[in-house]
Amino acid sequence: PEMAPYVDDLPVPGTITSSPSQPIEIVARTTSSRFHRDQPKVPTMAYNDESYLGPTIEAHVGEQTTVHYRSELGKHILAADLDTSLHGVSERYRDEPVTSMHLHGGVTPPQFDGNPERLMLPHHGTALFEFPNRQEAGHLWYHDHAMAITRANVYAGLAGMYFLRDDHDMGTPQNPLGLPAGEYEIPLILQEKIFRADGHQSLRSTPVVPQGMWEGGAVGDRGLVNGKVWPKMTVARGLYRFRLINAASFSVWNLFFSNRMRFWVIGNEGGLLNAPVPTRSFQAAPGERFDLLVDFSSLAPGETVDLCNDLAPPFQAAMLGEVAMTRFCCFIAGAARGDRRGVPTTLRGGRGRPARIPPIATPQRVRKVSVSQPYELRVPPAIMSLNNLRYSDPQIEKPRAGTTERWDIINITPDPHPVHLHLVMFRILGRRPLRTVEYQAANPQPPIGTRWAPDPSRFYAGPMRGPAAWEAGWKDTVHATGGHVTSIVVRFPTADELGFDPDAIFSSDPTKSWTRASFGEAAARPAPASPHNHAGARPVHGMVTKDLQGYVWHCHILDHEDHDMMLRYRVVP
Ligand code: C2O
Ligand code: CU
Repeated sequence: PEMAPYVDDLPVPGTITSSPSQPIEIVARTTSSRFHRDQPKVPTMAYNDESYLGPTIEAHVGEQTTVHYRSELGKHILAADLDTSLHGVSERYRDEPVTSMHLHGGVTPPQFDGNPERLMLPHHGTALFEFPNRQEAGHLWYHDHAMAITRANVYAGLAGMYFLRDDHDMGTPQNPLGLPAGEYEIPLILQEKIFRADGHQSLRSTPVVPQGMWEGGAVGDRGLVNGKVWPKMTVARGLYRFRLINAASFSVWNLFFSNRMRFWVIGNEGGLLNAPVPTRSFQAAPGERFDLLVDFSSLAPGETVDLCNDLAPPFQAAMLGEVAMTRFCCFIAGAARGDRRGVPTTLRGGRGRPARIPPIATPQRVRKVSVSQPYELRVPPAIMSLNNLRYSDPQIEKPRAGTTERWDIINITPDPHPVHLHLVMFRILGRRPLRTVEYQAANPQPPIGTRWAPDPSRFYAGPMRGPAAWEAGWKDTVHATGGHVTSIVVRFPTADELGFDPDAIFSSDPTKSWTRASFGEAAARPAPASPHNHAGARPVHGMVTKDLQGYVWHCHILDHEDHDMMLRYRVVP
């Protein structure tokens, strides 16, 4: 369908402020939304009263956010796209979509982490979530995480912003850091989408794979910001703070403004950088967040700048003829002058500011993990894998609480994969090019199901390059570049530091079942057995009652985490 750019105003989602005494309600609903002025209203999923996506949750460091979550979803709006041959997916989910709400970036006790196996049917009670918010201020996001249908649920609309404030960065103009606030602080939830001829959302980019079969990822041909196709925003001529999420299903973007103006990255997923980093572009992979300062004060009234992308799709998508979209939204300079306080010179260290980010710690052990695309006997045959394992394979990583590890993420595919770890924040050490052909020739990859992440050290094609300045802060998602080994350094916290036991519920001992106590009202009924389900991943209707085996780490390309680029891990004492 034709969609003229820049005819709709940029919507800003509503806000819910969390207070320690009052639980907030999050309800997943089936609704409808108009993605563009000239398009019909089409079915969507959303949280609360939004027509697509969810309200922004405002929370405060050190004050617990309590969420009562329930689902009133009707039939899945992308029912025909669910692939019931993927583990854990039942035919029943087309009519009764299961969900699992997750706070991405949250340092969350395991029972509240939105585990992909903790599934909830619509109209089956209320789930309790307690987010301690004992972590640094920043912008997190909440989104659905249901096993092997995450891509459909998030694409349909189940995602929202979560601002975590503190006394330095409280979201009002009086903040000691001098950051733009109020009307000058804007969430930008960037997505890509494909529309059918009738204007409905489509998850499919190629007719090569029949509908109803997992496709591996689709490059969108429309850019969405906060749920509108190519919106426009009139800005005051001053400084703005944009809290950006790459909430796409698939694409990595190189973002810049059409006039190539300089702007500043002031934070990553886990909070502020030490000082604003000036740049004219940066790359954002799915799951990554960037806190930006953009100065419109030198624009003439009426002048416009577009937020653009010029990164082409990765190798395999390009082979299928997929083309990147090149723009998201435009900003039109208004007559009004805005925030003229200027860009702060420093963000951390000294009075009124948070402590500086420490240097990267020395790891006590190195863990090698691999990212690959093996094949198995099914249609389509490709499967995305970490460590050459499926989600349900039992060989999970078990880092020790209180230790610092370097994870060498060996990506032997030509494509980027954004790797995300739940529970922790980490730092990027750097990326090193790998001679993948020789590496694989010397270390033949066994059939999927055997852990495989051999030592890459004899196969480097060059030195390690450190992170870009705009990704040098606290991260929860790292763009693991194709054909590279990406090294991160991560400290796994102790129960004392966390204020909860990160391994509390992970047991196969049914007497340690936690759901029955927390969610007594939910009826737990066993899932009908499916011959296609891989052993080990057993969804239980109503709510999962036991046998959660860990936090997860995964590729944040939603199609990839669904099949099967997601594994469990446990932080053990
Ligand atoms: Cu944004 Cu495991 O997720
Ligand atoms: Cu991936």
